[in-house]
Amino acid sequence: MTRPEKEEIYKCDLCGNMAEILKGDGAPLFCCGRTMDLQEEQTADATKEKHVPIIKKIDGGYKITVGNAIHPMEKEHFIKWIELKADGKSYKQFLKLGDTPEAIFKTDAINVSAREYCSLHGLWKKENCN
Ligand SMILES: [Fe+2]
Repeated sequence: MTRPEKEEIYKCDLCGNMAEILKGDGAPLFCCGRTMDLQEEQTADATKEKHVPIIKKIDGGYKITVGNAIHPMEKEHFIKWIELKADGKSYKQFLKLGDTPEAIFKTDAINVSAREYCSLHGLWKKENCN
């Protein structure tokens, strides 16, 4: 079994609990009597929704959108959260059904990356860009 690493996302496939590692190198995470599943960061997308976050520099910060076409925000298939990592800080916007799958983060950071989590298709990441 591998040890969790900082910033990894884990999910229990029985109850749906999710956890993010703030400090790694400990024991594997357990939930509902079994190990939680690592959510792999996907960076290339063959699905029609296109999940890789799009990072756009705007006045005073960054706007993150999900997909070239707007991703669904329906009960069985929606974006749960969008995260921006910016010069060592982490910002997260949780979304609810009916929201537009986008988030605006105010920061003057230079080095940024983004992640988002789709309820059906998992974790997606756009690597550092500036
Ligand atoms: Fe999706």
